[in-house]
Amino acid sequence: MKQNLTRKIIAAHLVEGSMTAGSEVAVRIDQTLTQDATGTMAYLQWEAIGLPRVKTEVSVSYVDHNTLQMGFRNPDDHRYLRSVAAKYGIVFSPPGTGICHQLHLENFAVPGKTLIGSDSHTPTAGGIGCLAMGAGGLSVALAMAGEPYTLAMPKVFKIRLEGQLTGYASAKDVILHLLGLLTVKGGVGAVMEYCGPGVASLSVPERATIANMGAELGATASVFPSDEQTRAFLELMGRADAFTPLAADDGAEYDREIVVDLSALVPLAARPHMPDLVVPVAELDGLAVDQVAIGSCTNSSYSDLQAVAWILAGEHVAPGTDLMLSPGSKQVLKMLMAEGLLDHILDAGGRLLECSCGPCIGMGGSPGSGGVSARTFNRNFEGRSGTQDGQIYLVSPVTAAFCALRGKFTDPATWNKEIPRPSLPSTAPSIRHLFAYPPEDAFSVEVLRGPNIVPLSPFDRLPDILTLPVLIKVGDNITTDHIMPAGAAITALRSNIPAISRHVFERVDKDFVGRAEAAGQGVILAGENYGQGSSREHAALAPRHLGVRMVLAKSYARIHKANLVNFGILPLTLVNPADYDLLSQGCPLTVDLAGLAPGKELAAVMENGRKIALAHDLTGNEIAIIRAGGLLNYVNDRQK
Ligand code: F3S
Repeated sequence: MKQNLTRKIIAAHLVEGSMTAGSEVAVRIDQTLTQDATGTMAYLQWEAIGLPRVKTEVSVSYVDHNTLQMGFRNPDDHRYLRSVAAKYGIVFSPPGTGICHQLHLENFAVPGKTLIGSDSHTPTAGGIGCLAMGAGGLSVALAMAGEPYTLAMPKVFKIRLEGQLTGYASAKDVILHLLGLLTVKGGVGAVMEYCGPGVASLSVPERATIANMGAELGATASVFPSDEQTRAFLELMGRADAFTPLAADDGAEYDREIVVDLSALVPLAARPHMPDLVVPVAELDGLAVDQVAIGSCTNSSYSDLQAVAWILAGEHVAPGTDLMLSPGSKQVLKMLMAEGLLDHILDAGGRLLECSCGPCIGMGGSPGSGGVSARTFNRNFEGRSGTQDGQIYLVSPVTAAFCALRGKFTDPATWNKEIPRPSLPSTAPSIRHLFAYPPEDAFSVEVLRGPNIVPLSPFDRLPDILTLPVLIKVGDNITTDHIMPAGAAITALRSNIPAISRHVFERVDKDFVGRAEAAGQGVILAGENYGQGSSREHAALAPRHLGVRMVLAKSYARIHKANLVNFGILPLTLVNPADYDLLSQGCPLTVDLAGLAPGKELAAVMENGRKIALAHDLTGNEIAIIRAGGLLNYVNDRQK
């Protein structure tokens, strides 16, 4: 059978399963990555497994989220991450070296390999032909232990690119176009596989931008072929040996085909507060922009910032508009300096921030009250910027640079500044010496723990009958930011579950924590696409700590659902979505779980005896994990 590229990579890594879309497959994982906000917990879980050394080809621990060190918590976490990496055979990337996905693309990602990372934008490495997926930290810990990664066999969507980008359109506009077309749910359960004549015109960094925001489509991964562009990128990175040509077979089958004519694309923007509220920039003409933020794992490559520098050269940022820039890695920064491009940005009035996630995770750079911020990032959820009423627009670096110059959105037809197509530099200085590589003999390495590193307490097992109240009723598209907010003060508590749990749902309902504690256990009731957004496993772990045993939703985001299972929370769907209206906060429900089995419906009985039909798509394995009280209990049981 003629195979698409996704199926080829999965087949080469298949440990178990039949590769029928929707059925469970277990795949061998070659590489893992973590970032610090999820990594501390992943390594606490790794330590609980009790192995002496990771079994993956490459595992990297990046510090890019909480790089500010304004108190003991973040530096304690960084020290723990550095020492745990040295102890167990993991490469450590210190704070300030760069953003995990940009660094991984430059230094470690390999065409045809599998990668899971405890960050939802791990699919960025699909730009180089790697099958890269976001996963919970616990799944990453298990992959490091040599366990296969289990997922529902994805459908594969063929995204056929035709023509070439012209004018001021850029790679960001390709993915914004797809988001406008497919919405934030359009890629759920699928891998977006790019092919067609337009692919050859896109460099690896441009492909990585597109693959990165496949996460906003809800896609499992995005994959580009590995071709001459890939070879050129790997050669530039000093990793020519890592190149392998890869492509789908001619005539390969796909589940769906979408054609994008690159030549027809124009600059686009996603309006507040969802990445799929996409309009042409021309429609925003005249809207004043208070702040422009350029960077993030979506758009912080050399070619992104090269375009910005060309636009800003010899000009000045509009008075009243603040321009900030976070390069994706020190390598990008060094290349900008070597080519004299950084001067253009600084001389125009731009502000240089650290090579880290920075404003993308609300780590500084918040807009003022009600402020309009044009950002090259991938998410614009309400409050994520650190300013609750901030108005965040997602745009390309080209659009962002013009916003900075004009102080407002302007019709691209009036930009009229000549800019060539972005390119790769002629040389790229390696920064690989900045990583801390683990010693061969780690016997004497001591793992350093500060007071904020609190070991996990075990969770109890699932009883056969649960009687518990609805603790909160929320609507559609609840993000992991709604459940477990980010921001400097909160994420500093990420390795301290009792402390971070005090913040669950605080931006939605400040009384939630008190109510959950008074009830002892309970249910979350939600609408469509519950848990969309990041792979933040604290959005499952912290509610579990507060006694949440079950979520009833109309539908779920993939990674969050996996996280719920991993922490022993039962994710059930309402068979009849209209039943959502029958249930309200405080309403007690009784669920008989003795017969919980794959494909079998359950019922929640209300106080008045009315039954609510509940479904799930859990596999036998997932049910065993939930019954055990979570994946860690399950793995520990298996090892006994
Ligand atoms: Fe960091 Fe934002 Fe990407 S938090 S990993 S730059 S989505």
